[in-house]
Amino acid sequence: MARRKIIAGNWKMNMTPSEAVKLCAELKDLVKSDDADVVYCVPAIDIVPVVEAVKGTNVEVGAENMYFEEKGAYTGEISAAMLKDAGVKYVIIGHSERRDYFKEEDALLNKKVKKAIEAGLTPILCCGESLEQREMGVTMDWIRLQIKSDLVDVTADQVKELVIAYEPIWAIGTGKTATTEQAQEVCKGIRDCIAEMYDDATAAAVRIQYGGSVNARNAAELFAQPDIDGGLVGGASLKADFGKIVNYK
Ligand code: PGA
Repeated sequence: MARRKIIAGNWKMNMTPSEAVKLCAELKDLVKSDDADVVYCVPAIDIVPVVEAVKGTNVEVGAENMYFEEKGAYTGEISAAMLKDAGVKYVIIGHSERRDYFKEEDALLNKKVKKAIEAGLTPILCCGESLEQREMGVTMDWIRLQIKSDLVDVTADQVKELVIAYEPIWAIGTGKTATTEQAQEVCKGIRDCIAEMYDDATAAAVRIQYGGSVNARNAAELFAQPDIDGGLVGGASLKADFGKIVNYK
């Protein structure tokens, strides 16, 4: 069975609640699609108004982060159950900005992945190498390590529902996209890694996105690759261009 494309915006720390509602209205008709799942991953404070603003449309809402504990004394954190109750379907876990600026490590991310799944959320698990790692030739070793560590104790059936985003750190927000060949090569490498860890059926089912300076011009070529099932889009998800990315064909 062909995998359904999934195109997700990662708004990062952009859009006040009122700006968010306006953006949803502007994008509403542009992001209509029968072929792809469309997701807006938004700042926590925008979740409630955005869930309301996209009601009756094809857009699903995602969070950009969550904490793995059930509830309690974790000031400033948001639980999976809170996200679920608010109408969230997806949650980005392990974005390179969280790994880098907030020192989130694989053991923590593994707990988040498991908790998200348990709560009925779909993790968008991010991985990716730095420029130094690419230049040293250890890209795939590094990404395999991330994937294996982040998926400890996650079952094949759970992985089938998962979304993995390959985002080379050097391509994020830099305007420097990985070449189509580089992106396809790593996305295939991730799929091979899943096949080794689980089985071919699981590898064939898991959806793998490319992220890193995706825009209206490069989306079609990237998303046409056999192992690239859509994109995680930062900057270009905040403007009308996102509609062109969703309707890349
Ligand atoms: P970018 O961000 O599209 O602005 O490069 C992608 C991401 O960080 O998810």
